[in-house]
Amino acid sequence: MERTLIILKPDALQRRLAGRIVQRFEEKGLVLGGMKLMRISKELAEKHYAPHKGKPFYPGLIDYVTSGPVIVMVLQGERAISIARTLMGKTFGFEAQPGTIRGDFGASRSYNLVHGSDAPESAAEEMALYFQEGELLDYAPSGSEWVFPKSDD
Ligand code: RTP
Ligand code: MG
Repeated sequence: MERTLIILKPDALQRRLAGRIVQRFEEKGLVLGGMKLMRISKELAEKHYAPHKGKPFYPGLIDYVTSGPVIVMVLQGERAISIARTLMGKTFGFEAQPGTIRGDFGASRSYNLVHGSDAPESAAEEMALYFQEGELLDYAPSGSEWVFPKSDD
């Protein structure tokens, strides 16, 4: 079982798309392991996006992700990191394929609705920024065996 850290960014909440975006991940078979509504502080945003420090878009990115409430989630399941990134689509909404979250709802470079961890290492670091271990639940909803069959292993 793999876990990934997903953030529904301020534009997703301001545009009232949170429910529809969560639904896409759930429909695919990923399972909610943790979820909270919060406002990201400047300090937290700077930790999260430290790998981008110094890039031209960094100051705007920090302003954007701290500009309003977000929903932070942990999603879990086999290959959760790559499955979530595929559902999200390419970074810029105007390049993302239709059928992806960014492809269907986004048209911008920076306002792209959703964040997803890009590797197991970043997922572990990001989860530690937003959740205490005790806040995450590990469970298999009934029917999970029809999404993640043992024969795949
Ligand atoms: P994320 O980290 O948010 O899941 O997005 P990503 O991996 O697809 O994209 P990344 O390269 O990590 O960029 C992080 C976020 O910075 C904003 N961005 N703006 N104006 C620009 O050229 C630009 N490039 C990136 C986006 O909000 C992107 O999600
Ligand atoms: Mg990224």
